[in-house]
Amino acid sequence: MSEKRAPLGIGVVGCGYWGPNLIRNFHQLRGSRVVQLADLDEKRLNHMEELYPEVQTTTDYEQLVQNDEIDAVVVATPVDRHAEVGLAALQAGKHVLVEKPMTRTSEEARRLIDEAKKRDRVLMVGHVFEFTESVRKCKSILDDGTLGDLYYINSQRLNLGLFRNDVNVIWDLAPHDFSILLNLLGGKRPRGVRAIGASHINPQVEDVATMTLDFDGGLVAFVQVSWLDPKKVRQTVLVGSKKMLIYNDIEPTEKLWLYDRSVEGPAEYETYAQFPYTYRYGDITVPRIGGAEPLRTEAQHFLDCINSGKTPLTDGHSGLRVVEVLESTDRSLSEGGARIELPA
Ligand SMILES: NC(=O)c1ccc[n+]([C@@H]2O[C@H](COP(=O)([O-])OP(=O)(O)OC[C@H]3O[C@@H](n4cnc5c(N)ncnc54)[C@H](O)[C@@H]3O)[C@@H](O)[C@H]2O)c1
Repeated sequence: MSEKRAPLGIGVVGCGYWGPNLIRNFHQLRGSRVVQLADLDEKRLNHMEELYPEVQTTTDYEQLVQNDEIDAVVVATPVDRHAEVGLAALQAGKHVLVEKPMTRTSEEARRLIDEAKKRDRVLMVGHVFEFTESVRKCKSILDDGTLGDLYYINSQRLNLGLFRNDVNVIWDLAPHDFSILLNLLGGKRPRGVRAIGASHINPQVEDVATMTLDFDGGLVAFVQVSWLDPKKVRQTVLVGSKKMLIYNDIEPTEKLWLYDRSVEGPAEYETYAQFPYTYRYGDITVPRIGGAEPLRTEAQHFLDCINSGKTPLTDGHSGLRVVEVLESTDRSLSEGGARIELPA
């Protein structure tokens, strides 16, 4: 008979917009118990106490990370606080799940990775889209060669708001696109990054931006993010030599559309005018995607990694890779869209 494990004690720092979604999921999962919540804002804590009367609250996250009933700390503060809170939690011997983007700098990300390694604790980053069935299905379609050679990727994440003051639209939205891309490409890293952005509402903060990421072998990814669009768009298009795939996250059920379409040039031709193209228009198929809540899958994965000692899918290194791309977008923006090379 298998031994019944006690639920892991969870503390959540940051109960603003996103924190409550994490709290709800850890509260609902059998393998965890939300023990304590921390936020600087007492009003947020009062609201949380109404929803979860059994949970302790504090305005001092240091008190939470020292709580003996807590095994793991979830960091859902603005990104400027991620490194400080995450480090304090790791130093107190807790496992850490930190929201995206992992940290404000790659140096901070490396410190968290080193501390987690030193203390043998799980460090995971909340790249929630990597836990969607759609991204998993896209990856299996890519990995089995269905699309052929990948030519380019076009990823768009547009909406009206939600405006932030602490980071620009790239740091807010593009971590999702970058983590999806890096996941789909199996950890392959871009060689160069360019970013162009503009600020319209708050002069200090870019609210629209377009980026290109180029990879070895000619693959290029275009990423567009905006807080200033009339319509919500969350779409990634993958164009290969054999087929093309659209992942539209806004669609409630039919999120993936696989187009059996391609274009070919001839093997030989004599003059440019003779250059004939062959267009192939085949069927469109819509693979079935299940409806599990990705945040629940992410939270369960964090608990499983703590219990089994497994490395998370979205570990500190995957968080670092995304932060490195984000840092290079800052440099490119400040250099008028120049191409910034990333280390191999
Ligand atoms: N995975 C996703 O899809 C997703 C979506 C939205 C936000 N996020 C991420 O979640 C994090 C939080 O974003 P948000 O939109 O909830 O921000 P928010 O500003 O709404 O909430 C942050 C909360 O943290 C609290 N806080 C700040 N410093 C603190 C400290 N030192 N100790 C305790 N509490 C502190 C604030 O009082 C606030 O209530 C960010 O990293 C963001 O990028 C992720």
